[in-house]
Amino acid sequence: MKKTIAVVPGDGIGPEVMQEAVKVIDAVAEKFGHQFDLVYALAGGSAYDKFGSHLPDETLSICEKGDAILFGSVGGPVSEMQLPKWKDCERNSILTLRKHFSFAVNLRPSRVYPQLQSLSPLKPDLVAKGIDLLIVRELVGDAYFGVHKRDVADGERYATDEAKYTESQVKVAVHAAFECARKRRGKLTSVDKANVLTTSKLWREVAEEVAAEYPDVEYENMLVDNCAMQLIRDPSQFDVIVTSNMFGDILSDAAAVLPGSLGLAASASLNKDNFGLYEPPGGSAQDIAGQGVANPIAQILSAAMLLKYSFGLEAESKAIEDAVEASLAEGYRTGEIYSGEAFEKRVNTKQMTEAILRNLEKDPISVCNEKVSVPK
Ligand code: IPM
Ligand code: MG
Repeated sequence: MKKTIAVVPGDGIGPEVMQEAVKVIDAVAEKFGHQFDLVYALAGGSAYDKFGSHLPDETLSICEKGDAILFGSVGGPVSEMQLPKWKDCERNSILTLRKHFSFAVNLRPSRVYPQLQSLSPLKPDLVAKGIDLLIVRELVGDAYFGVHKRDVADGERYATDEAKYTESQVKVAVHAAFECARKRRGKLTSVDKANVLTTSKLWREVAEEVAAEYPDVEYENMLVDNCAMQLIRDPSQFDVIVTSNMFGDILSDAAAVLPGSLGLAASASLNKDNFGLYEPPGGSAQDIAGQGVANPIAQILSAAMLLKYSFGLEAESKAIEDAVEASLAEGYRTGEIYSGEAFEKRVNTKQMTEAILRNLEKDPISVCNEKVSVPK
């Protein structure tokens, strides 16, 4: 297979972890006989330095020409947020990309690796029940893309953010979520705030209509405040969660930390043609940028999602996931997941990738879909 990938490393740890993901992509190309041409583009503060814009036309055009986009992360240090280089950086870059390509569906998986159970912030008995859930977040509607207004009335500053949903926006997200649930454990939870919000009442109405088309999937509605509580109280009850843009933003961060680190979380943003942008949702982590210690796994797993969802390369994607899992099983740990146990090997960004590449090389069987054996 011959494909072009637009590679947008971004800011902070973005370039460091992207470099590692690219090594894995190259290794997969070599092993499975594909040709992936990588075309690099700037976004965020790094683009601002060169072009005076967080999302230059050149970047958009490279993304348009690619078969998929592998995105790092954008954004500056908290203390510099007001500088022009960083002000509205995320909104101008990543939100514009989402709207431009109509990435309506965002997939955020959260799984606790068996060999990393002790890292979860939850009690062992809760984790032992198994945590493997997928949040499907609607990505182009809601308060993110309504009219934002700020003014002064009666001598007082005020601000409003319009939150709007159309029936078709809800349908697209809910259909995608049902399709995912069908391929997983067959359960879907639709999350809203229908006891208060009109947008949520519409969401629930439409979601229930769509549910009638999927009698084989177990369906339930849940209020978002309850869902936040259930994610911590008993996350193993969830298979697929579908929800609106704003609720999905918040719930997916809560879910992402169940495995113990945002450095393990990957995501896919897809449009109706399965063109997609793949990124770790964990942010640019400016506090550890430039030190070579960031966990590259989130970026590497985002590349695995790219191969699966945009190119249909299931075996290749699985080979990467297996290699990551095997490396964790061998005890390799970047700083934020290192707990000091005797069997653990504390490694930096590059060494973690080396372990993954070794396992990718070692595994001759993913093509026939067997699993790397992981000690429990
Ligand atoms: C995310 C991020 C973004 C969002 C920010 C960077 C605009 O938090 O992808 O979850 O709110 O969607
Ligand atoms: Mg977020």
